[in-house]
Amino acid sequence: MKVLVVGGGGREHAIIKALKKSPQIDTLYALPGNGGIAADAVCVNIGAKDIEGITAFAKENAIDFAVVAPDDPLVLGTVDALQAEGIPCFGPEKKAAIIEGSKVFSKNLMKKYGIPTARYETFDNMEDALAYLETAPIPTVIKADGLALGKGVVIAETREAAFDAVRSMMADRIFGESGTHIVIEEFLTGPEVSVLSFTDGKTVVPMVSSMDHKRAHDHDEGLNTGGMGTIAPNPYYTEAVAKECMEKIFLPTIQAMNAEGRTFKGCLYFGLMLTPDGPKVIEYNCRFGDPETQVVLPLLETDLFTIMQAVANGTLDQVDVRFKNEAACCVVMASNGYPQKYETGFEITVDDGCTAEIYVAGAKKDEAGRLLTAGGRVLGVVCTAPELKDAIDSAYAQVEKVHFENAYFRHDIGARALQAK
Ligand code: AMP
Ligand code: GLY
Repeated sequence: MKVLVVGGGGREHAIIKALKKSPQIDTLYALPGNGGIAADAVCVNIGAKDIEGITAFAKENAIDFAVVAPDDPLVLGTVDALQAEGIPCFGPEKKAAIIEGSKVFSKNLMKKYGIPTARYETFDNMEDALAYLETAPIPTVIKADGLALGKGVVIAETREAAFDAVRSMMADRIFGESGTHIVIEEFLTGPEVSVLSFTDGKTVVPMVSSMDHKRAHDHDEGLNTGGMGTIAPNPYYTEAVAKECMEKIFLPTIQAMNAEGRTFKGCLYFGLMLTPDGPKVIEYNCRFGDPETQVVLPLLETDLFTIMQAVANGTLDQVDVRFKNEAACCVVMASNGYPQKYETGFEITVDDGCTAEIYVAGAKKDEAGRLLTAGGRVLGVVCTAPELKDAIDSAYAQVEKVHFENAYFRHDIGARALQAK
């Protein structure tokens, strides 16, 4: 079979490496992929948001199955376009991807169906938002409605900062059109857990839980990033918590989407906070998390392609989805300065004897075949082990074997998780 994966980051590299193990797949294409993914798939220079280009390529090359991984192409309707050409896909249609594409939609969905989340108000008028903030409890959380690459969220510790955030979103439009509508919500506390799940709209199968580290610097300081590292499983996510989440969050969400005529098929990502009042949804994503995927898929025992086909066919209940009873750690190596200004174009080398799995996010090949840095997050170094502590120690030992100028990484990935034990 010929399978194409839309996207070109570390998450897509992890998906491609997992799919590569499937005996059912003969050829894997990545659109556009990257310099590192090129070792595992045929990379074709078609952008992830170029729906026409993707569809034309799929038709011309008789693609049997497509996996649409990033948020933008999903929210723009790439799955709908491919399906219209008769190509089965893993990923939600546009009308279901809105669960990530609009925070106003997802907050209203949770309110309507009683799914636990932070209390909130939505605004499409700046004066009203500012007036509400005069008396809102502080800290407060302000979110731009649309996709803003994970950066559309401001946690305001003071009233002044809250006013500034609203003005910059709604007047200065720092997140563009996303600032037309905003959500102002209650500040929650507690450990965060990412739970990715497979769902065909009837059955929901949570994957092993994980924990992201979103801030740029050690001890959760610095700016929010796309994610500086992950561990799995998340020790705060006990069996009791998992059971509660299934009953109060996962199944109700799938049913709510069905009731709205927006059946969700693909990977539904639950960003949860385990608050003193129980688990609550911080965000939904309509796709695999990045870099959560880099620790979740290495622990998957079942053939990923079999699962993806069952999701597309609506037969997920017939697949026995199994994970290894082990742990994984991903340390992201970034370009110094990320998520703001950074330089690129430095050669990446890996010492002989590096035992880590390396998932490349931002790199390209030059004419001489050298791998050069080409993004903020450059790659993820991933190790697995029976115990979390050993997975973390191994990942950090292997990071020492990966080199490029101006490399930057956090030194405390997994530290909070180890304290939970
Ligand atoms: P989001 O893009 O919605 O996942 O938000 C990014 C990060 O902001 C989350 O991972 C949380 O750490 C934090 N956050 C979002 N909403 C809240 C909230 N209501 N209370 C506390 N922290 C939040
Ligand atoms: N790691 C968080 C996300 O993928 O949105």
